[in-house]
Amino acid sequence: SDMEKGTYPYYMLKEIDEQPATMRRIISEYTDETGAVAVDQELLTSLLASDRIYIIACGTSYHAGLASKQIIEQLSQIPVEAHLSSEFGYNMPLLSQKPFFIFLSQSGETADSRQVLVKTSEMGYPSLTITNVAGSTLSREATYTMLLHAGPEIAVASTKAYTAQIAVLTVLAKAVGEAKDVLSAKSFDLPMELGIAANAMDVMINEKELISQLAIDYLSTTRNAFYIGRSEDYYVSMEAALKLKEISYIQAEGFAAGELKHGTIALVEDGTPVIGIITEAVTAPHTRGNLREVESRGAHTLVIVSEELSKEGDQIILPVVHQFLRPLVSVIPGQLIAYFATLERGYDVDKPRNLAKSVTVE
Ligand code: G6P
Repeated sequence: SDMEKGTYPYYMLKEIDEQPATMRRIISEYTDETGAVAVDQELLTSLLASDRIYIIACGTSYHAGLASKQIIEQLSQIPVEAHLSSEFGYNMPLLSQKPFFIFLSQSGETADSRQVLVKTSEMGYPSLTITNVAGSTLSREATYTMLLHAGPEIAVASTKAYTAQIAVLTVLAKAVGEAKDVLSAKSFDLPMELGIAANAMDVMINEKELISQLAIDYLSTTRNAFYIGRSEDYYVSMEAALKLKEISYIQAEGFAAGELKHGTIALVEDGTPVIGIITEAVTAPHTRGNLREVESRGAHTLVIVSEELSKEGDQIILPVVHQFLRPLVSVIPGQLIAYFATLERGYDVDKPRNLAKSVTVE
């Protein structure tokens, strides 16, 4: 069953492997025979009446919100802000006229997110909880709810919930954009593109041997590490770094590639691993330049790069997918790097110290 590891040594590896199937399940749950997306009509009406989407979440779910911002804006033409729950509730920005709140929570039980939902509901604003757990607190208390359909996630380090959140938000944004007659939404063939992304995820998952070797080469003894990227690649860098911190205990940071030189580059020493994520043609030369800057200070650099932007040197090559869906594929090497670095360093992948799967206190 879903709750068993079977032949897997750890749940995390099983859950990483389940991501392509989760994408295919999301396609079948949210589209009909003609390929049209199906989303609750009242939810759609409420979103169409809103002028801004506020995504509220913690941890990996927050990172999924950041990675989805561009996709939602492009498809729906509604501005999106992603916020940390623990900050937003007590330091609320000036809201737009017609805000719509989306709570992203794998467990649906996170107290930090719930305190925001309680406040925004009191203010009378509509809300949607996107969660993996039907009937969870946040899904019961929000106006609307959508399920991730990722199956139980057991490992403390979240993997399949992250990619499922991006996919479900893409479904929602496509539905809104189509209803608004937005060209980029109408021309986005969601079942086809998500299907292509699922296949690309399978390709990455089959690169375990290479990724494991690179994780050993780069991370078996280091004290710290950096992931760098721009725009979407920056957001994925934050998630890849969080995975590394959570389970391998390597002090890792996901950094905006262009900002590194404005201070943090002082931390780069001989042998410091710096992993660049490069999926965007326009910014690729800039991030490559940033990698050369750190190399000249002794950094040990590796790139996770889209096929069409690849060069020589140590690299993990990502198959080409629709630009909106790149984070679904580019995050997988980061998940696997964290997994293999942790194995190499001898820690329990599924049960890291100090962490809980869901945190029900503020
Ligand atoms: C905990 C978990 C994280 C998770 C975060 C948010 O801190 O250890 O892995 O990302 O909560 O959880 P949620 O269930 O709200 O997505």
